[in-house]
Amino acid sequence: MLKPFDKPIYVTRPFLPSREKFADGLIEIWENKWLTNNGPVLKRFTEKLKQYCATENLSLFNNGTLALQIGLQGMGVSGEVITTPFTFVATTHALYWNKIRPVFVDIEPDYYTLDPEKVEAAITPWTSAILAVHVYGHPCQHKALADIARRHNLRLIYDAAHAFGVKVGGVPIGLLGDLSMFSFHATKLFHAIEGGMLIFPDPGLKTTIDYLKNFGFKNEIEVVMPGTNAKMNEMQALMGEMVLQHMPEILASRKEIYLHYHSLLKDVPGIKLPPSMPEVVTYNYAYMPIEIDELEFGMSRNELYEKLKTYNIFTRRYFYPLLCDFACYQNISISDPLTVARTVADSVLTLPIYPDLSLEHVECICQIISSLGD
Ligand SMILES: Cc1ncc(COP(=O)(O)O)c(C=O)c1O
Repeated sequence: MLKPFDKPIYVTRPFLPSREKFADGLIEIWENKWLTNNGPVLKRFTEKLKQYCATENLSLFNNGTLALQIGLQGMGVSGEVITTPFTFVATTHALYWNKIRPVFVDIEPDYYTLDPEKVEAAITPWTSAILAVHVYGHPCQHKALADIARRHNLRLIYDAAHAFGVKVGGVPIGLLGDLSMFSFHATKLFHAIEGGMLIFPDPGLKTTIDYLKNFGFKNEIEVVMPGTNAKMNEMQALMGEMVLQHMPEILASRKEIYLHYHSLLKDVPGIKLPPSMPEVVTYNYAYMPIEIDELEFGMSRNELYEKLKTYNIFTRRYFYPLLCDFACYQNISISDPLTVARTVADSVLTLPIYPDLSLEHVECICQIISSLGD
């Protein structure tokens, strides 16, 4: 048996800026005595994100879940929304909190994003939108989805929680569709401790979205809608601003790790890797998913997941179980058999990937995985 790691290797670890620089930033916040409610650090961070994301139309939140809930509400989405079951629960929770019925359809087998053909087949007179997920940062088939949305007069909304930094044809991914939500949770490659962002091409949406995240206040004495509290605070903005400065090196080191995994695992029998990205995509290497074929590999995904823990390697079964199998969504009727989503949920494992994971550690992880197969 190969030697287990001395210390646990987790699926991810947050990138942290230097503690000294963060402490300097805190001095500014202390001097301002302004901790939240659209403070100066948040304003500065917002301007930097506008540049990075190449848009004026964005709004920041205390997390991605509330951002998506507010985005859906601000756009007036209702009735049924076609979405994927192969995602984190928050995607569907955001629909549920808006009293919208999720209609689950299958994903495609290469990049695990919503299958446009299945989307078209699931449209009913009650469908108002498509909520697709750039899962693992893999861009959805946006041209096909945009075409369906246009022909059926549907809103096209993206859960881009995993996709910060991705570009398609040189265009930042947040500019696709009618609305995109990004998560800045500490587990994401870009983070603000917690946080979220909406990007939307319609500048008219900004006022509503900003009212909704601040209790519906228009000014000191007017509340124009029943909003909630979803504002990003100054500490989050400071972390976000500092991590943003390091995006080029974060992306470069993730790329190196990701490609190293691919070169070491590509010939292991029973392990399937996502195909390389189409040329037009600038990828962010957000996750390192592999699929295990139990017969060929000689061990099931669940066995491998458990076995790796004995080596101090903590992978995750993102996304298992499928969202529609959670107790709170089991009663929703589903016409699509979700064949691909079910197969992937039962076979996928995401491996550790984060900027300070050394290539030597990647090699040991791959050796251990290979040794466990037949
Ligand atoms: C696909 C997806 N959607 C939504 C969310 C929710 O984002 P947050 O944790 O920022 O609320 C997450 C992650 O946490 C996610 O992975």
